[in-house]
Amino acid sequence: MDSIIVKGNGPLKGQIPIAGAKNACLTLMPATLLSEEPLTLTNAPRLSDIKTMTELLQSLGAEVSSLQDGKVIAMSSHNLDNHIADYDIVRKMRASNLVLGPMLARLGHAVVSLPGGCAIGARPMDLHIYGLEKLGAQIELKDGYLHAKAPGGLKGAEMELGFASVGATENILMASTLAKGTTVIKNAAREPEIVDLANCLRAMGAQIEGDGTPTIVVQGVDRLGSATHPVVTDRIELGTYMLAPVIAGGEVELLGGKIDLLGAFCEKLDAADVSISETDKGLLVSRRGDRVKAVDVVTEPFPGFPTDLQAQMMALMCTAEGTSVLEEKIFENRFMHAPELGRMGANIEVSGGTATVHGVERLKGAPVMATDLRASVSLILAGLAAEGETVVNRVYHLDRGYERLEDKLGGVGALIERVQGV
Ligand code: UD1
Repeated sequence: MDSIIVKGNGPLKGQIPIAGAKNACLTLMPATLLSEEPLTLTNAPRLSDIKTMTELLQSLGAEVSSLQDGKVIAMSSHNLDNHIADYDIVRKMRASNLVLGPMLARLGHAVVSLPGGCAIGARPMDLHIYGLEKLGAQIELKDGYLHAKAPGGLKGAEMELGFASVGATENILMASTLAKGTTVIKNAAREPEIVDLANCLRAMGAQIEGDGTPTIVVQGVDRLGSATHPVVTDRIELGTYMLAPVIAGGEVELLGGKIDLLGAFCEKLDAADVSISETDKGLLVSRRGDRVKAVDVVTEPFPGFPTDLQAQMMALMCTAEGTSVLEEKIFENRFMHAPELGRMGANIEVSGGTATVHGVERLKGAPVMATDLRASVSLILAGLAAEGETVVNRVYHLDRGYERLEDKLGGVGALIERVQGV
């Protein structure tokens, strides 16, 4: 397995291009299942999760080609000849469950393996099931698979999600575009990826209003057509690389970055004494003083502080002036990076869903283990300013969510290299 070696090397300077959003792309790709006509995505990120979704869609009979070195994904679901999303693919990536709503809407039936838990928590699908049942689906769990059918087709309905789940909102939104009549989704997720999905579905002919607010209203249509859609900028990749010059010093311009994608993240950075300014190409970021100030963080649905940036923020807080309290409210087990940061000299106490970080002046490089996608990158960020060498093992998680990470950080002056494993 590959490892990444990072050496603390002082200030970073230059530009980092930000890719299209992994999480948007993983919900835009299954949207192809809703239409017999082609769907083309541009600005796609080149990541292993995208390959997994490609494999899954192909297993269902969709044609999926990767063009222009992976930046364009051309799909056609003219002939869907399988309605079973197999455990072997779904277990690799939870977002595979996003084929359920579209398949059900288009074919009237779907069998999708339950993804199971993952390192960061149990992650059930009850809200997806609740919403699809409201639309008239009958769903049964047999042998670890959800067997869903809608013999008379889906019918629009009003529903309220008990929690603003991103995946449930996406599955229900996609399904409702082809349901008869009006669907109202209350307490819908408001993440930019939801707005991106709605924009793509509208380009395919769907009638959707209210995306980006807690109430989404969909008027079902008989069929969806063809579209070409650019994937929105990856706000999590953006936020991650914004922290690089803040941790290591220097000034970096994040190409394609926009403040409105980041919600509370920018407010917290401002309070921590980080300078963020908009340029005509993106965002320019640097820390104002020698050390950032400790700030408290609570993870929440958008526009609150994103759980997917909590580990990276913890890496920053390790060397902040003062004590910071980070509360994880979205996933129950998302502090696995804390003991690894501790190996680098961080002073962190974890109690349930709360981590208290007492800032130290400097971290020291150490061999550490990547436990999940965002935890892995937090260790690399921490290594950028640590004394000596940090070796991050098991980096396959990183390749799921960060394209060419070594090139992007190396391009702004970081000393970082990948060592091929056996
Ligand atoms: C998406 C993102 C993930 C991000 C998360 C929260 C993708 C591919 N992944 O994941 O990177 O961390 O949003 O911003 O877009 N829940 C239930 N029942 C359900 C569904 C969810 O209890 O039916 C719970 C989950 O266990 C979790 C919380 O709700 O505790 C948030 O999950 P959700 O918003 O659905 O996240 P995902 O769509 O899985």
